[in-house]
Amino acid sequence: MVAIGKCSSIYRTSPEFDFPETSSRKLGLSKLPGKSFGFSVSSSEVKTSFIGPLRAIEASRMSHVNGKAEKFQRVGCDSNEDLPTNDCNGFAGKGIPQMSTIGNSTNIVWHKCSVEKCDRDELLQQRGCVIWVTGLSGSGKSTLACALGRGLHARGKLTYILDGDNVRHGLNRDLSFRAEDRAENIRRTGEVAKLFADAGVICIASLISPYRKERDACRALLAEGDFIEVFMDIPLHVCEARDPKGLYKLARAGKIKGFTGVDDPYEPPLTSEIVLRQNQGICDSPNDLADIVISYLDKKGYLKA
Ligand code: ADX
Repeated sequence: MVAIGKCSSIYRTSPEFDFPETSSRKLGLSKLPGKSFGFSVSSSEVKTSFIGPLRAIEASRMSHVNGKAEKFQRVGCDSNEDLPTNDCNGFAGKGIPQMSTIGNSTNIVWHKCSVEKCDRDELLQQRGCVIWVTGLSGSGKSTLACALGRGLHARGKLTYILDGDNVRHGLNRDLSFRAEDRAENIRRTGEVAKLFADAGVICIASLISPYRKERDACRALLAEGDFIEVFMDIPLHVCEARDPKGLYKLARAGKIKGFTGVDDPYEPPLTSEIVLRQNQGICDSPNDLADIVISYLDKKGYLKA
């Protein structure tokens, strides 16, 4: 039985296939069983010099596993194996790996790695998650995202901001503001945010994301609690009065078609985790708003592993 940090991994193995050096293997070192190779080698060396013997060892281990499944059981997120499939079949010629069809991607196999989210969370001393900031243009999403990034950085936390305008400069440059393109913009950003969260990063996604259905689909990509929706509930007339980029003016003049809040819809969240609004017509400072989100993260345990 092995437990590393909070990753509480439990292995039940037969003694002849027990690998006691779990932590060194997880750090990229592979120690081969003492009788055959009594020394540690880096994973890159394994790939070049020792791949043959290692394969043989893994194969024998796997055939043993396949023979007596009850002798090897993985529980929790920690695993000693990097498998091209989520079970032991298909390794070293034993059976066919489980194929999937996801969208238009046919015959694909999930490749599992022994270093997992909880290991990265442990390393970073935080819990990777997505803070999804939604609201009208001019509601202060990007300003909040930056203040939040600064506040968390000052506390030693690793963040990354996916800003709608910025992501449209690269990954999503092919997308317009038509409904289906906005939906795709949200979907892609949600998938990227999920990867960041899986990397252990506190990912701050700030985009109008006007449609409830797409926002909820992004929420569904993450584990319960790991998607924190922050609604910048600032009335249209306030955003329009601010008009930081002069876009409302252009939209009202008919020079931009389909502008959110003017002639395109915005569906406010119904059950977001955090709602930020003005207080008697006065807006808190960006740092004060960021502190509200940081307190939430702290309370929910995202600022420690
Ligand atoms: S979203 O609707 O697809 O989520 P996103 O957040 O990526 O929008 O981009 C919004 C930014 O694009 C706005 O801040 C604004 O600068 C710019 N923009 C350009 N055209 C539009 C439009 N028709 N509606 C809203 N924002 C627009």
